[in-house]
Amino acid sequence: MSRGKIAVIGAGTTGGSWAGLFAAHGFEVAVFDVREGAAAAALERAAAAARFLAAKGLADPVLTEEGLALLAAPATLAQAVAGAALVQECVPEDLELKRSVFAQVSRLAPADALIATSSSGLSITSIQQDALSPGRTLAAHPYNPPHLVPLVELAPGALTLPAALERARELYRRVGKEPVVMKVDIPGYIANRLSAALWREAIELVLRGVATVEDVDRAVRFGPGLRWAVMGPHLIYHLGGGKSGIRGHLLHLAASKEGMLRDLAAWTTFPPEAADLLEAGVQAGVGEKTLEELEQERDEAVAALLATLRQTASLQENRPAKENAL
Ligand SMILES: NC(=O)c1ccc[n+]([C@@H]2O[C@H](COP(=O)([O-])OP(=O)(O)OC[C@H]3O[C@@H](n4cnc5c(N)ncnc54)[C@H](O)[C@@H]3O)[C@@H](O)[C@H]2O)c1
Repeated sequence: MSRGKIAVIGAGTTGGSWAGLFAAHGFEVAVFDVREGAAAAALERAAAAARFLAAKGLADPVLTEEGLALLAAPATLAQAVAGAALVQECVPEDLELKRSVFAQVSRLAPADALIATSSSGLSITSIQQDALSPGRTLAAHPYNPPHLVPLVELAPGALTLPAALERARELYRRVGKEPVVMKVDIPGYIANRLSAALWREAIELVLRGVATVEDVDRAVRFGPGLRWAVMGPHLIYHLGGGKSGIRGHLLHLAASKEGMLRDLAAWTTFPPEAADLLEAGVQAGVGEKTLEELEQERDEAVAALLATLRQTASLQENRPAKENAL
């Protein structure tokens, strides 16, 4: 028996991965794409993603088998969204296209279906404008790959109702996501803004000749990156401030941090020499490994880390209740 139905519209990189996650948690998933053969190919990737999650202990194998049996690629958009509790839109990053998909889906899906865009950079306020009952539409931005990385950033548009965000939060939790609910919709949400800020400085360090690409990456991986997987930057600094916590950290380390801040890169256009330098630096570390091999290495390591983190108390509260239906 399915836990409910979810429609995935747009069967590319993001759609296939979302479909795998939803199926792994026992949902009936319908995938739709306008491109011939795209949905069928996405079903194969989704099935592989769902099996990977079950094999790594990140999804219940019984629910996964139930979800896999219900993975489908209906011929029309109307069939795909019929009876869906959630429509996850994953079409290309084009405002007019997304706005038109939202307008169509909102007229074909059940009146109470949540409709969420995966968009990385477009405003949900613009996307939802022509939708019927836009109060149930929102942004639900995944971090790549959506089936494996738990973060989903939920953002409201100007017309989104708070109750829709709350329903969405519960629903994404049931598929093992860690939803972060934003109060406003700003470009890049939270995680991509933080990533952009860090990457700018990482590039700057290479351009200034301070360290190699490989060593900058190692400094992140084996230092702050490891801690950030356990606690965010504010909590980590709370621990670094002695007995007075984060306030003490600000008081005692402000002068030293401000000295660094004044020296950080502030450019807003990528320096033209960055591409050649970064490519050469990445190649030096990667050697003969293919992109597929690197992806597999990343996914295996992320899955192992996640399985370990989920044993700890801080990540227990968000585990999906096994038998919940939508
Ligand atoms: N790729 C990522 O890392 C990533 C991460 C987070 C969010 N996103 C967001 O996800 C969305 C999709 O990105 P992607 O990388 O999967 O793109 P993609 O090009 O891989 O896939 C898009 C799919 O949508 C299909 N499509 C086009 N018009 C359609 C329509 N009217 N109805 C149904 N299907 C249609 C295309 O045929 C294609 O298969 C974008 O908004 C992107 O910003 C991507």
